[in-house]
Amino acid sequence: MQTRVVQLEEGKENGISVRTGQHKAFRPKLLLVLGLFLAFSATVFIISVSTIKYTGIQNVVTTVTSSFVPCREEEPSGLSRWIQPPLVLMHNMTDEELLWRASFWPRRKEYPFKRVPKIAFMFLTKGPLPLALLWERFLKGHKGLYSVYIHPHPSFTSKFPSSSVFYRRQIPSQVAEWGRMTMCDAEKRLLANALLDISNEWFVLVSESCIPLFNFTTIYSYLSQSKHSFMGAFDDPGPFGRGRYNPNMEPEVPITKWRKGSQWFEINRELAATIVKDTLYYPKFKEFCRPACYVDEHYFPTMLTIEKPVVLANRSLTWVDWSRGGPHPATFGRSDITENFFGKIFDGRNCTYNGRNTSMCYLFARKFAPSALEPLLHIAPKILGF
Ligand SMILES: *[C@@H]1O[C@H](CO)[C@@H](O)[C@H](O)[C@H]1NC(C)=O
Ligand SMILES: *[C@@H]1O[C@H](CO)[C@@H](O)[C@H](O)[C@H]1NC(C)=O
Ligand SMILES: *[C@@H]1O[C@H](CO)[C@@H](O)[C@H](O)[C@H]1NC(C)=O
Ligand SMILES: *[C@@H]1O[C@H](CO)[C@@H](O)[C@H](O)[C@H]1NC(C)=O
Ligand SMILES: *[C@@H]1O[C@H](CO)[C@@H](O)[C@H](O)[C@H]1NC(C)=O
Repeated sequence: MQTRVVQLEEGKENGISVRTGQHKAFRPKLLLVLGLFLAFSATVFIISVSTIKYTGIQNVVTTVTSSFVPCREEEPSGLSRWIQPPLVLMHNMTDEELLWRASFWPRRKEYPFKRVPKIAFMFLTKGPLPLALLWERFLKGHKGLYSVYIHPHPSFTSKFPSSSVFYRRQIPSQVAEWGRMTMCDAEKRLLANALLDISNEWFVLVSESCIPLFNFTTIYSYLSQSKHSFMGAFDDPGPFGRGRYNPNMEPEVPITKWRKGSQWFEINRELAATIVKDTLYYPKFKEFCRPACYVDEHYFPTMLTIEKPVVLANRSLTWVDWSRGGPHPATFGRSDITENFFGKIFDGRNCTYNGRNTSMCYLFARKFAPSALEPLLHIAPKILGF
């Protein structure tokens, strides 16, 4: 028998200790306690004052000698603790704790500091990043306008030199299986970790086989000037679309809102927060969308169509070639990388951008094999503009 999943993430019920009610105390007893406390406080105060000079000088000395290693003990006080991105991405929060933390949301419209919005590139990978050198070149010179996150298989530890944009950008990960909820969990985990940096505004999901099709400046302005977020979402009346719908999802998920789309998305902060905070649709999809219903093709497109339809472009920015047929799209290697090949990607189709027709439909493309790296690095300055 299948058990109904009620919680957002598996995990033990946290034994949060509930504070017991305060006891009513007798007045004389209370006064005695107060007196003792005052005496104790005074002693502590005197001791602290007499030691502060010594430790104060010590602190100055340590900060001078160890300025290279940030001292995490000194928690930033004031505003900076809310606006500085986490220095260390690895944490020991459970998914439940992380999603809760990531769903904090400022209610005031303006930011009380100069916020430079960033693109968060979220790499959902199996392990290594064979095209890392291409991404390094793409991002070079744009520090402060992007962040990088990597979610590999949990057994994998990425090793990049400290000069790399991928250095220490791995987040705590778990196994993600294609077509299953664990895949959506991994995507949510990436979104949640990226949301912890208040300056991340656009969230792009990519894989190790994805490449950028334009230079950073072009992609940044395309995303920042768009009125829409790019989540593939279409209503497919056939067996692989509506045919996967299960009426048990009613009333939260009506069939008229059932959508299908590629998992490779670009969404803004508001939509990322909408996904991370969701506890309404998640149990429905987890229970009633199992293979042959591939939940990573339906959950986000459908829930966002219900929650925020008008901000969706309903198309993905990631080009992929399904023309060869079969369950997986085509993979391109060394011999495929020609000017003619990119000509087809750039002129293949017309689509809309902010309500106008454009032939610039895709900013990213997949899938590229490791053997494509060398010709890509060679062709990139001329064809991709970086
Ligand atoms: C995480 O680590 C802290 C201390 O480093 C500990 O108090 C806490 O219980 C840990 N949480 C989990 C979920 O392991
Ligand atoms: C990026 O590409 C655009 C259009 O291809 C070009 O006009 C611009 O100069 C390039 N920017 C940089 C910094 O190379
Ligand atoms: C995307 O689809 C939703 C409904 O599914 C619609 O409200 C929205 O206007 C569409 N977006 C565009 C850009 O047409
Ligand atoms: C895209 O639009 C342009 C001009 O509007 C047109 O010349 C071109 O044939 C269109 N391409 C496709 C694939 O429809
Ligand atoms: C955009 O393209 C569609 C078909 O591709 C055409 O019907 C429409 O008139 C075009 N709109 C504009 C503003 O050019």
